[in-house]
Amino acid sequence: MTVTAEKPASEPSVVKPSWDKGLANTVAAETQMSFIDGAKGILEYVGIDIDSLARNSTFEETVFLLWNLRLPTKAELAAFEQSLRAEYALPDEMYKVISTLPKHATPMHALRTMVSALGTLDPNADDDSLDANRMKALKLVAKTPALIANFDLHRKGKPFAKPDATQNIAGSFLTMLTGQKPTAAMNRALDVCLILHADHGLNASTFAARVTIATLSDMYSAMTTAVGTLKGPLHGGANEEVMVMLNEIGTLDRVDAYIRAKLAKKDLVMGFGHRVYKTTDPRATYLKTFSKQVATDTGNEKLYELSHAIEELMAKEVGPKGIWPNVDFYSATTYHSLGLELDLFTPMFAMSRMSGWSGHCIEQLKDNRLIRPQALYVGPHAVKYVEMAAR
Ligand code: ACO
Repeated sequence: MTVTAEKPASEPSVVKPSWDKGLANTVAAETQMSFIDGAKGILEYVGIDIDSLARNSTFEETVFLLWNLRLPTKAELAAFEQSLRAEYALPDEMYKVISTLPKHATPMHALRTMVSALGTLDPNADDDSLDANRMKALKLVAKTPALIANFDLHRKGKPFAKPDATQNIAGSFLTMLTGQKPTAAMNRALDVCLILHADHGLNASTFAARVTIATLSDMYSAMTTAVGTLKGPLHGGANEEVMVMLNEIGTLDRVDAYIRAKLAKKDLVMGFGHRVYKTTDPRATYLKTFSKQVATDTGNEKLYELSHAIEELMAKEVGPKGIWPNVDFYSATTYHSLGLELDLFTPMFAMSRMSGWSGHCIEQLKDNRLIRPQALYVGPHAVKYVEMAAR
């Protein structure tokens, strides 16, 4: 049911609420950053279709686009890249925080804690001016790769690494993580994934970030909220679940029985379905072709073939219901081919989406109103309080 907030003429302050489970039919914010047409399978950042951006842009240029609502000139892009690189480094205290984290923690739990800890180290954390928030957004996008890479080094008992300000975000991240400068092809593969994940309307984690910033809390709190929300397997956590499924299936001859058994039990097949897209997610369309290339280049063709066979079977079985691959499906193959460990897949998503989340927070504050829906009370009324002795 759609929410209609009609104000009765005689009672100007009373709003008539209506029920919209999962807020599926509710518009809760205005944005100029990304546009989605779920029926046609279109995604645009500031009016530019995602396919053109994935083919031609870089993550850094895409972030500039989302934050400034236009493409940069050559000089502007160079200056923006420089300002990001100047903020790659973590404060020394952050390395102390990372070294206290339990090594068995998953990277998403660790990332949530590290983003929150960054806020404690920024004297301007509670300055909600536009300039201060733009600076915090820049810092968060620039520093998140070092947080993720250094937690991974910490849990493996390896020495910490400093970011490499001579490289782009993808290159500096992969160098910290592996100790080796990535090839141009690997760098580009991660860069493309970062472009594709940067923003996506009012998805669950972006909504959560906007709810937090709308209370006039602060950017770090909003990003912490967002990381925690992204982690769930119905949202960003699905890319890890896709890889678990691919590992469980193992070989092509097992696809049919595995998927049919899942569907028969009404289990979810991860990486399929979307609240907004009722056709293939355009990010998945691009990633499919891209992951095939990356998988071939890295000797992971079997993984691609497995994914493709699952997609074909799902199209036959549940395509007519509007369930098609989403961005998480082929990103699993891509990340695996890049040599990333399974539990780093969702942090890759967060590393990119930090740009969308922070941009949305700045947008929210420009015309802010507390986001506070109502609950439909379904419990009893007029219940008598019973003294403890009589219960
Ligand atoms: N596998 C099998 N069946 C599915 C799937 C799936 N992946 N997704 C939806 N369905 C079925 C539902 O069971 C439901 O069936 P029913 O009508 O017989 O009850 C029907 O399709 C409609 O699904 P809803 O639950 O109404 O879809 P909703 O919009 O609430 O959920 C969601 C969307 C959460 C993404 C869902 O499709 C899902 O859980 N997918 C798997 C997890 C996943 O890949 N998440 C990543 C999403 S993209 C992102 O966040 C980056």
